[in-house]
Amino acid sequence: MSTALITGASRGLGVVAARRLAAQGWTVLAGCREPARLAATLTAADGDIRPIPLDVTDDASVEATVKEVSAHTDTLDVLVNNAAIVGVMSEPAVASVEDLRAAYETNVFGPVRVTRPFLPLLRRSAVPRLVMVSSSLGSLAEMSDWRWDNHPHLAYPSAKAALNMLSVMYAKTVPDVLVTVVNPGFTATDLNDHQGTQTVEEGTDAIVAAALDTTGPSGRFLDRFGTVPW
Ligand SMILES: NC(=O)c1ccc[n+]([C@@H]2O[C@H](COP(=O)([O-])OP(=O)(O)OC[C@H]3O[C@@H](n4cnc5c(N)ncnc54)[C@H](OP(=O)(O)O)[C@@H]3O)[C@@H](O)[C@H]2O)c1
Repeated sequence: MSTALITGASRGLGVVAARRLAAQGWTVLAGCREPARLAATLTAADGDIRPIPLDVTDDASVEATVKEVSAHTDTLDVLVNNAAIVGVMSEPAVASVEDLRAAYETNVFGPVRVTRPFLPLLRRSAVPRLVMVSSSLGSLAEMSDWRWDNHPHLAYPSAKAALNMLSVMYAKTVPDVLVTVVNPGFTATDLNDHQGTQTVEEGTDAIVAAALDTTGPSGRFLDRFGTVPW
């Protein structure tokens, strides 16, 4: 049976994706800043979900997580880089570098910080998969369409656009890992004060599909309906 590590699995889409993969018999290592909080909510009916400490902004935390994951398994089939924050919502004309820093630290540097040290464990899988949870707000094609005025803030969309390019570069240069970028779609979670119009089930469809997919091709940007323009 397969093993996945999901970052930011304490709540929202991360924990629902963990539950859905565990329901299929997977072992899911649920990376959380406060694993005890998640552990307290789990029951036997949730399957094999193992909360483990992970702060994606902290090198020492990631290093410790690699050691802990290695104690649970010698193979990782799927790494889901899901953890993210909206960060400071300031419009481009007034946004400072400081306004961007937190979103970039979590949403851009976080996946890089986590992905590299997990590549050796992933490469022990017959079909290693890297799932990058992005957003349509990171799509240059969609955001440069002047009909839309979605989220006119500098930090989050630009961080997700950077994540998209990181993913393209992993897909091009790490050919033994199947890389899929997913857009969950606007989903009711804490991230948007539950204003999202999709259920968390719908929001995790693309994440779960990418985790399950073993054929690729690598380097696609997908939502639950199909291809998302870059
Ligand atoms: N919801 C949407 O409409 C939507 C749309 C498009 C894309 N997305 C993307 O989907 C993913 C999940 O979003 P969500 O809606 O589930 O958000 P959420 O409910 O706010 O959950 C975010 C998760 O990320 C974790 N996290 C934040 N900073 C972290 C850090 N430094 N280290 C480890 N974990 C950290 C949080 O952990 P704590 O509990 O410790 O804070 C939480 O588990 C994100 O990548 C988001 O950008 C969401």
